[in-house]
Amino acid sequence: MSTANQATIQEAADYIRAKSGIRPEIGLILGSGLGILADLIQDGISIPYQDIPHFPVSTVEGHEGELLLGTIEGRAVVMMKGRFHMYEGYGPQLTAFPVRVMKQLGIQSLLVTNAAGGVNTSYEAGDLMVISDHLNLTGQNPLIGPNDAALGVRFPDMSEAYSRRLREIAKQTAAQQGFSLQEGVYAGLLGPNYETPAEIVMLRTLGADAVGMSTVSEVIVARHAGIEVLGFSCITNMAAGILDQPLSHDEVMDTAEKVREKFLNLVLAIIPQM
Ligand code: HPA
Repeated sequence: MSTANQATIQEAADYIRAKSGIRPEIGLILGSGLGILADLIQDGISIPYQDIPHFPVSTVEGHEGELLLGTIEGRAVVMMKGRFHMYEGYGPQLTAFPVRVMKQLGIQSLLVTNAAGGVNTSYEAGDLMVISDHLNLTGQNPLIGPNDAALGVRFPDMSEAYSRRLREIAKQTAAQQGFSLQEGVYAGLLGPNYETPAEIVMLRTLGADAVGMSTVSEVIVARHAGIEVLGFSCITNMAAGILDQPLSHDEVMDTAEKVREKFLNLVLAIIPQM
């Protein structure tokens, strides 16, 4: 494993291009439960992460590691089946390396999804939230170190990290499908423990509506690279201390499974409009 620089990014992208003639326009990084979208990719090929030069390899059991290229609803996509979390021990640069490779492959927009706890007490488990903004509370940043001007500017603007245009499309599409999306701020923490009730009170005070352990580093790198971003959280549980019950990964997976079809249909209808 090595750090992201032009040579390593280029090598990874060259390897992928040699395997597939697909020139992706859209990148997909889908969290818990939506990996099944992989089955809907047409004329696709899959490349195990371990075969791609410099690519990180997932350590979490049950988290798969393949890059898929193909078309969905007529759009050329590249999809990560399995993502990297900083709680696995990867540095922030490494979690974001795949985004840089996707950029090199030609993507202009990125769709990211995650499972998250509901911090906003008007939310319910099973809600879908379009991310309006985030709080990077990981204590880390994927852009630390010397800046390569070929990849982006030293001090990237984050005032519209999550595209207003794509958020509007998301809300309209959900309305057409007969439901309304929540829209709110995602707080990204390092994890891997779930938060304490006191931390959830703090996050609510800070303006968070949902909390999770992914997404922010990928989005920071995507914005650095000038990629337009759309993000969704599946509210799989209410965050710690809101309900009188402990949190568990099983609950997270159960809820993700229950909303999967609705979430999948939304994403499928949005992709052609991106
Ligand atoms: N906290 C952090 N991450 C999560 C949660 C949560 O409550 N639910 C799903 N991912």
